[in-house]
Amino acid sequence: MSTFDPAKLLPHQQYKLMSSTIIPRPIALVTTIGPDGTANAAPFSLFNMVGVDPPMLMFSMTPRTGHVKDTGRNIEHLPEFVVHIVDEAVKEKMNICSADFPYGTSEIEFAGLRTEPSMLVRPPRLVECPAQFECKVIDIVKVGRRPNHIVIGEVLMMHYRPGIVDEEKLYVDAGLLAPIGRLEGAGMYTRVTDRFHMAKPEIPGVPATSG
Ligand SMILES: Cc1cc2nc3c(=O)[nH]c(=O)nc-3n(C[C@H](O)[C@H](O)[C@H](O)COP(=O)(O)O)c2cc1C
Repeated sequence: MSTFDPAKLLPHQQYKLMSSTIIPRPIALVTTIGPDGTANAAPFSLFNMVGVDPPMLMFSMTPRTGHVKDTGRNIEHLPEFVVHIVDEAVKEKMNICSADFPYGTSEIEFAGLRTEPSMLVRPPRLVECPAQFECKVIDIVKVGRRPNHIVIGEVLMMHYRPGIVDEEKLYVDAGLLAPIGRLEGAGMYTRVTDRFHMAKPEIPGVPATSG
């Protein structure tokens, strides 16, 4: 085994191992609004579903040189955001949004992303993205010595590009959603093109579970 004691690693070394091992990670392209009304967009792959009733998701911000990122500053001002799933068509624009623009600059305009108003929150929706979830902040949990800011949001409205969801069965066609995911290192990504099915286990004497 190659064994590492994280206590003996520097934070960037911990990050290297963690972020290259916990893969693939989904990517949330998050829009927020600043105090001057500027719309901001930034990608986060420390991102996942939290649970339902209500539907909840989270993403985590690592501070940049000791300061909370623009998304975090905006959310503290207006606790609303929109999470977008990123596909290949939008990947370069997503990547541009990850650049360290000065606070108050709209990455959305710079990247040339098209927007439409959201229904229930002020941050805009990026209409080129295949799925868009309007969210309000439930909690911001600060963890670690830096600290990381984990934003937990309730999903208030869900939008999909036509054809992705069977509206009757609520079946999402992952092939049409076609999200990209984050892999190891600074610039590796993956597609969802190699799926397989595995049924739930049927074990005699063990009740079948759902979920
Ligand atoms: C695919 C991808 C995933 C990223 N994931 C995260 C993340 O989970 N947490 C984080 O703090 N930064 C992450 N970043 C870096 C941020 O996107 C970057 O710091 C960005 O400038 C933050 O923007 P903001 O200051 O406008 O909020 C990621 C970048 C890319 C390209």
